[in-house]
Amino acid sequence: MNDVRFAYPGAPEASVLNRLSLQVKAGETVAVVGPSGGGKSTILLLLKFYEPGGGSILFDGRQLSSLSAEDVRKEIAVVPQLDFVHYAAKQSACVIRLRRLG
Ligand SMILES: Nc1ncnc2c1ncn2[C@@H]1O[C@H](COP(=O)(O)OP(=O)(O)OP(=O)(O)O)[C@@H](O)[C@H]1O
Ligand SMILES: [Mg+2]
Repeated sequence: MNDVRFAYPGAPEASVLNRLSLQVKAGETVAVVGPSGGGKSTILLLLKFYEPGGGSILFDGRQLSSLSAEDVRKEIAVVPQLDFVHYAAKQSACVIRLRRLG
């Protein structure tokens, strides 16, 4: 994702993501770690639950908007806020795993 901006429709004045850029390579496992309310879960929700308010999201080189939710979800696994990660890091975390389409 490049330069992504996002605010929830119910709170349009409250910017949650402000120009976030993040690249996850195929096969890579990424842990997103940060304080509560920092926007970790929101990043996941941009994978076909909400549309970004700005910037672009590419999935395997294709615009996310051109892919179906089903196509995207069968290619990823998400592990939200594992207790042992929470315990170990004393911070909440999400893990996103991607692999190549097709
Ligand atoms: N549906 C919603 N409508 C409006 N604001 C929301 C909504 N969901 C989350 N937020 C706000 O968006 C911000 C980011 O929330 P998010 O859930 O992404 O944080 P997080 O990093 O996952 O936090 P946690 O570690 O507690 O899970 C917070 O300020 C939260 O209050
Ligand atoms: Mg969260």
